[in-house]
Amino acid sequence: MFGEAWDDMSSEYDGSVENNPDHVISNFIEQEIQITSEICKKIIGPEKKFTIIDLGSGTGRVLFALQKILGDSVSYCGLDASKPMVELSNMKKSQLDLDSISFFHYDVTNPKIDELFDDSIKIVMCMYNTIGVIPAEKRKQFFENIMNLAGKDGLGLISAFNGNDFSFVAPKIYHPMKKMVKRIDDDSFDEKKVAFRNSLGYYSQWFTKSQINEFLGSTVEPIPITVDVDGNSKTMGHVFTNRQP
Ligand SMILES: C[S@@+](CC[C@H](N)C(=O)[O-])C[C@H]1O[C@@H](n2cnc3c(N)ncnc32)[C@H](O)[C@@H]1O
Repeated sequence: MFGEAWDDMSSEYDGSVENNPDHVISNFIEQEIQITSEICKKIIGPEKKFTIIDLGSGTGRVLFALQKILGDSVSYCGLDASKPMVELSNMKKSQLDLDSISFFHYDVTNPKIDELFDDSIKIVMCMYNTIGVIPAEKRKQFFENIMNLAGKDGLGLISAFNGNDFSFVAPKIYHPMKKMVKRIDDDSFDEKKVAFRNSLGYYSQWFTKSQINEFLGSTVEPIPITVDVDGNSKTMGHVFTNRQP
C-alpha cells in the first residue's frame, strides 16, 4: 500500500489547513490560491481545452477553490496516494454537484502518469509543500512527471514553504497544525536538515528557492507568499513556475 501515512491525518486536514482560524495559515492559503489563480488566468485561453492537475491533492481544497474562480470551462483532476483523502474529496464533490472536477487514488511518482490524461493543455501543480513529503529517491521522477505533463504549452507550478527562513517560518506553520501532525517533539524542527519531523513518522522536507528552481529547471523568480507577523511582513512561502506564464 502507498499513502498510508496520510490516511490518519485526513480527518484533521481541513480543520488544520482550509478552516484553520490561525491567521498565518489562513493568510497563507488565501494568498497561495490568489497567486495561483492569477497565473492560471494568464495561461488559460478560450481556444483550447485546459486541465488543471493537482498532484497530492489532499481533500481537494485547491481544486475546489480554483473552480470557484476559474469556472467550469476548465477540467480539474486531483491525484492522491491516500484513499481516505480521495474519499473525502469525492464526498465534497458530490455535495457541490460539480462535473468538472475528478479525484483519483494514484501515486504521482508513477512514470506512467501521462496515460491518465487526454491531449488538453495542462497546468500541473503541487501545493502547500507537498513536494516535501515526496520521498527523496522519487523526486527526480516526480519532477519529470510535472515537466512531461506540462509540455511546452502547459505549466508546472509549485507552492512551497520558505526553506530560506526555516527556523522562523516552520514553528509558525506547524504549531497551528498540531491537531493534524499530532505531535511536535523537542527535536521536530531540524534546522540542519531543513525539515520538520516527529516521532510518529511524519517528515516534511523544506527547500530553498534555488533548490526548487533547480528541480523545475526554471530561472523565474518565485512569487512570495507574505503574511503579517507581529507587525512585520514575512515571506512564509513562494509560488514557483517552470516558465514565465
Ligand atoms: C501536505 S498534504 C497537501 C494536500 C494539498 N496539496 C493541499 O495543498 O491542501 C500532502 C498530500 O500529498 C499526498 N501524497 C504524498 N505522497 C504522494 C504520492 N506519492 N502520490 C500522491 N499523493 C501523495 C498525501 O496523501 C497528502 O494528501
